Amino acid sequence: VAADAAWREEVLRLAERHDAVILAHNYQRPEIQEIAHSVGDSLGLCKIAAECDSGTIVFCGVHFMAETAKILAPDKRVIIPDARAGCSLADSITAAQLRAWKAEHPGAVVVSYVNTTAEVKAETDICCTSSNAVEVVRSIPADREVLFCPDQFLGAHVKRETGRDNLHVWAGECHVHAGINGPELAEQAAADPDADLFVHPECGCATSALYLAGEGIVPREQVRILSTGAMLDAARETKARSVLVATEVGMLHQLRKAAPGVDFRAVNERASCRYMKMITPAALLRALRDGVDEVHVDPEVAARARASVRRMITIGR
Ligand code: 13P
Ligand code: SF4
Repeated sequence: VAADAAWREEVLRLAERHDAVILAHNYQRPEIQEIAHSVGDSLGLCKIAAECDSGTIVFCGVHFMAETAKILAPDKRVIIPDARAGCSLADSITAAQLRAWKAEHPGAVVVSYVNTTAEVKAETDICCTSSNAVEVVRSIPADREVLFCPDQFLGAHVKRETGRDNLHVWAGECHVHAGINGPELAEQAAADPDADLFVHPECGCATSALYLAGEGIVPREQVRILSTGAMLDAARETKARSVLVATEVGMLHQLRKAAPGVDFRAVNERASCRYMKMITPAALLRALRDGVDEVHVDPEVAARARASVRRMITIGR
């Protein structure tokens, strides 16, 4: 299926007929981003899902995101165009593993990244995303132990920012972001010392970026550790002519739209999430035509998970 004018027309016609809103994450294929009613980061899209008037949400992203939309909007029909679109980070901790970890640290507060299954969220006190993780951890009294899961690099970032010794970090990672490495970033930064560095906190190279700043190789103000949503705000404000981007390559589409005069370059052009890319034009058309794949969450699990997601949203206000 080509993403041509006929495809566009048919997708939009079916969306209207089924009272469906199409949401797309910043890492989706450009043609999916272009046809979506809203594009954004994982937190922003879930808020839209919860607040919109449409009876059906077609979530072009990965499974945990569609599941979070269903948790926040249980009465709506939520469809993901391909239910196989998983997440290596969400797979790095199960609810049983989290229960065992909690048993080792009685009384600790559990903070989970939204990149987790509904079952893990149900075992969590407060969820967070890359845009609010530091704020969420700061909201917890300093004398309480914190269990942070599942991303070790985001956890290290939060630990650095909050200076908390009583924060324990799970050793999970996203295979895409972990693969964007420090030496690659250092080499490119040395070749273009005036470039800004936009680094997602899930990257293995976030520590290297701060090391470059600490050593004076790159001015500190040019090194930015940012969520995908915050990268777009930074893109609109930057004075730099070029920006080295350390995150999934789908992000470049919105960055280039936000600041057409800036040269955005991927630190690692192979950093493409195969799960995100499973949402093809053909899959989106099939989703709208046949109403598949519908996302279901057990109501009891959803109720407990909703409490941890809502706590996060309240802190962010
Ligand atoms: P954001 O929360 O920044 O949208 O990122 C989601 C994600 O999957 C990162 O890999
Ligand atoms: Fe998961 Fe990584 Fe893909 Fe994001 S980029 S959806 S964290 S596997």
